[in-house]
Amino acid sequence: MSFRIQPPAPAVPNRCQLFGPGSRPAIFEKMAASAADVINLDLEDSVAPSDKDSARANVIEAIGGIDWGQKTLSVRINGLDTPYWYRDVVDLLEQGSERLDRIMIPKVGCAADLYAVDALVTAVEQAKNRKKSLQFEVIIESAAGISHVEEIAAATPRLVAMSLGAADYAASMGMATTGIGGTQENYYVLRDGTKYWGDPWHWAQTAIVAACRTHGVLPVDGPYGDFSDPEGFRAQALRSLTLGMVGKWAIHPKQVALSNEVFTPTEEAVTEAREILHAMEEAKANGEGATVYKGRLVDIASIKQAEVIVRQAEMIAAQ
Ligand code: COA
Ligand code: MG
Repeated sequence: MSFRIQPPAPAVPNRCQLFGPGSRPAIFEKMAASAADVINLDLEDSVAPSDKDSARANVIEAIGGIDWGQKTLSVRINGLDTPYWYRDVVDLLEQGSERLDRIMIPKVGCAADLYAVDALVTAVEQAKNRKKSLQFEVIIESAAGISHVEEIAAATPRLVAMSLGAADYAASMGMATTGIGGTQENYYVLRDGTKYWGDPWHWAQTAIVAACRTHGVLPVDGPYGDFSDPEGFRAQALRSLTLGMVGKWAIHPKQVALSNEVFTPTEEAVTEAREILHAMEEAKANGEGATVYKGRLVDIASIKQAEVIVRQAEMIAAQ
């Protein structure tokens, strides 16, 4: 173990982030009434260039005008390669209420991207005497983003979450994929004439999880495009969970319950985690560093895994 202790990620439920276009205010109330932990009002790619100004105005009004309950409220701003992003930031912070928790910055390519946004946000917060410090979340969705993922994770204390954006990532990498997330028709190994499909997102997800865990940021899986394929969504979400991600986006309300189900620890898992912690307490009292639980070895590492599960369950129960 390094001398530096791995910092914990923020203790907030982040099992599902539900997206909706800022240009479609008719669905905002429905988003607020959903079971998603995080709401992402979008100003970026689901909003046509001609609607950017009106979408921004809709979102600013909705931040303070709608009862978002206990949810984390986030707005996805436009990318730093567009003429829109600075006005997104300035107007949100000058005109929007302090109910806003986060902004999501898309297509981040290096730590300096976050430095620039941080400088602007900090100046407007000071000028407007805002009390609540705005949090950041980012999307890793380019070759540059994944190449610099660790410096991005470390870029600013405002950063709380990082998502993989599969579609833009695939385009930037020149990948020959068709679907947004999930396995891909041509990504298989052949053995004795039988195809076995692999997971083309595995490396990017693992790189994101490693960077996030090193710097105390929540790793999140992005969209699964085919919202009429619940089993495909579930399979992708289960793989993300297995690799250490804490949640997934929903681009349609149908995907919210699926995501919550996958990323909520089961009662059995929580009970087992509590029993492991108890068994380790007893082992410690007897001067032992390891013990046997249900016929298998548990040791100090098992305590940490069990604590993560118990902490998640407590956080969700406290909602
Ligand atoms: N959040 C909350 N409610 C939503 C919703 C959303 N994102 N999308 C649709 N709904 C509502 C609809 O208003 C409809 O409500 P009703 O039963 O009261 O009429 C119901 O859910 C069923 O909607 P449906 O007809 O199946 O979908 P749609 O054609 O209205 O919209 C999409 C489909 C994909 C265009 C829409 O879900 C959407 O815009 N998703 C988000 C896209 C986005 O933000 N992308 C950026 C991130 S990748
Ligand atoms: Mg994108």
